[in-house]
Amino acid sequence: MAVQFEDSFNRKFYYLRLSITDVCNFRCTYCLPDGYKPTQKNSSFLTLDELHRVVAAFADCGTSKVRITGGEPTLRKDFTDIVAMIAAQEGIEKVAMTTNGYRLEKHAQQWHDAGLTNINVSVDSLDPRMFHQITGENKFHQVMRGIDAAFDAGFEQVKVNAVLLKDLNSGELPAFLNWIKDKPIQLRFIELMQTGEMNSLFENHHLSGVSIRNHLIANGWIMKVRSQSDGPAEVFCHPDYAGEIGLIMPYKKDFCDSCNRLRVSAVGKLHMCLFGDYGVELRDLLQDDSQEESLIARIQGALANKKQSHFLDQGHTGMTPHLASIGG
Ligand code: GTP
Ligand code: 5AD
Ligand code: SF4
Repeated sequence: MAVQFEDSFNRKFYYLRLSITDVCNFRCTYCLPDGYKPTQKNSSFLTLDELHRVVAAFADCGTSKVRITGGEPTLRKDFTDIVAMIAAQEGIEKVAMTTNGYRLEKHAQQWHDAGLTNINVSVDSLDPRMFHQITGENKFHQVMRGIDAAFDAGFEQVKVNAVLLKDLNSGELPAFLNWIKDKPIQLRFIELMQTGEMNSLFENHHLSGVSIRNHLIANGWIMKVRSQSDGPAEVFCHPDYAGEIGLIMPYKKDFCDSCNRLRVSAVGKLHMCLFGDYGVELRDLLQDDSQEESLIARIQGALANKKQSHFLDQGHTGMTPHLASIGG
């Protein structure tokens, strides 16, 4: 193994979020309210070979988990091949994806068999009309059937993401808790994050996760002890529930201390944070296997400049337009 990816604050990066497309077929109010629009003419996303070189270099530097993101990653025709390629890479133990669940019902088994190990699905409401209002798509029942199909296919736990939106889904906590009583779902409430293309939405609908945390603690939920390998969520469990609740609160002061992930965008740029960075070009070093050493050196050079907390330092100039462009 080459040297493990590490920054100047001793944070180790063993988790790669690999975006494979910016394209999405949903129109979530907080992400792509007007639907996907190509940003560059003829922009092409990394090919299977280029993706392979990214994954090989990261695996050689200690990465053991790859999360495939987008856009909606399953819209790529070679999605199953990408899963199989990552699963076959020596050193990679977890192949995860984050999806809107649109294709899950039909393909969960095929992806499981190809080596996918973890699935995170976005479900912002358990009320089909509210789901439609938030995502722009009337696909609630299809997505729910997709989650069932994932369990049937052999995925042991499914994570579900719900972005907290004041006056929209914020009253649904009891319904969500009821839903996970007998299902081993880790349901994560994500605080709305401000992005460059979001105007009044943040002002009108941002809600802190603190009130949910207080409600959980008052009702017998227990916060699980965090380990270094944990993601950004604070996780709560309860003896009477098969499922768990996670809270992702990016505006918390110490949120970035446990950062353990790097991102590569669908056009081959390395992003060291969701926010405030323009990305470092990697694509010219993804053209041949012999370039791996130079590729690793470029990533290490970039990591030396990773700031302690980008979130507080958005500066608005390099602000992410929406999370679909960087893989969430
Ligand atoms: P696990 O691998 O299951 O821990 O996943 P995850 O929670 O990192 O992945 P997922 O794609 O489901 O992420 C859910 C959301 O959490 C993302 O879309 C972001 O909104 C938020 N998130 C994930 N990573 C970061 C991060 O590094 N910084 C910030 N601010 N938010 C993040
Ligand atoms: N704030 C918080 N979460 C967001 N997501 C997308 N945009 C935002 C935002 N502005 C989440 C979605 C999905 C994941 C891929 O990213 O809910 O679960
Ligand atoms: Fe698509 Fe995900 Fe963005 Fe919704 S949040 S528009 S599903 S990329």
